[in-house]
Amino acid sequence: MDFARLWLGLLLPLVAALDFSYHHQEEMEAFLKSVAQNYSSITHLHSIGKSVKGRNLWVLVVGRSPKEHRIGIPEFKYVANMHGDETVGRELLLHLIDYLVTSDGKDLEITNLINSTRIHIMPSMNPDGFENVKKPDCFYSNGRENDNFYDLNRNFPDAFEFNNETRQPETVAVMEWLKTETFVLSANLHGGALVASYPFDNGIPATGTLHYRSLTPDDDVFQYLANTYASRNPNMKGDQCKSKMNFPNGITNGYSWYPLKGELLFISTILLIACTQR
Ligand SMILES: *[C@@H]1O[C@H](CO)[C@@H](O)[C@H](O)[C@H]1NC(C)=O
Ligand SMILES: *[C@@H]1O[C@H](CO)[C@@H](O)[C@H](O)[C@H]1NC(C)=O
Ligand SMILES: *[C@@H]1O[C@H](CO)[C@@H](O)[C@H](O)[C@H]1NC(C)=O
Ligand SMILES: [Zn+2]
Repeated sequence: MDFARLWLGLLLPLVAALDFSYHHQEEMEAFLKSVAQNYSSITHLHSIGKSVKGRNLWVLVVGRSPKEHRIGIPEFKYVANMHGDETVGRELLLHLIDYLVTSDGKDLEITNLINSTRIHIMPSMNPDGFENVKKPDCFYSNGRENDNFYDLNRNFPDAFEFNNETRQPETVAVMEWLKTETFVLSANLHGGALVASYPFDNGIPATGTLHYRSLTPDDDVFQYLANTYASRNPNMKGDQCKSKMNFPNGITNGYSWYPLKGELLFISTILLIACTQR
């Protein structure tokens, strides 16, 4: 075997098409870089910062003008794996990327979507947590938090009360990123329950907390979106993750589920959960 072939042989497993297994940071990076190279006209790969351990926080943008905002083209974002042990969302987003770029120009609906939306995809907000997972299970385990042992979904400023948690590098990176784009809708993928949860997660009496809920002014839109997602998945008729919660129609208001402070949920955010805690 000549040297070139040996070298290729060592490189190929990293850039080969996406398989159905978990992808560590290096494999994920290799995949994202390969997509950005092969589909350079509709993708833009950039890192919005670094984790505690110095791992890049990658975002891949898919759109007809992936590098910049265009008037009339809404900005959408997906964030997954902010809890390092909630790993399904990370893989789902990698597969979504694969599906989007390989369907462009072949599937009318996807081509239309890429023409009319700019989709920002962050497969992992907590790459250190992911690498820290020792034994994946459906309960709290190593890796939920970042490398400083902070729960990133309790680490953001809160709209309703003061959140004194020390802001983590991953959180700061996302906060700065949010200032650079005018996101109009977002989804945040977690694990541990099968439900589409819509904002708010925290609240005050004026948002309905006396009635065990906390609704946004756009509640009809959020319920519509949550229902649209949940109704497409026959498994979402009730919670499939052996927890005691039962979600009618597979959706819930975040506050009704349980109040939560400092989460990555904004007015225009919907939370989609695939099977661990949010
Ligand atoms: C990019 O193209 C190369 C060469 O055709 C191919 O081997 C590789 O699998 C492609 N990567 C992706 C992510 O499509
Ligand atoms: C998408 O945009 C491309 C390039 O501007 C155009 O050629 C194509 O007709 C559009 N397709 C759809 C389905 O909107
Ligand atoms: C944050 O607030 C809680 C409760 O109010 C308090 O127990 C804790 O010491 C505070 N932490 C910091 C870092 O100030
Ligand atoms: Zn979570």
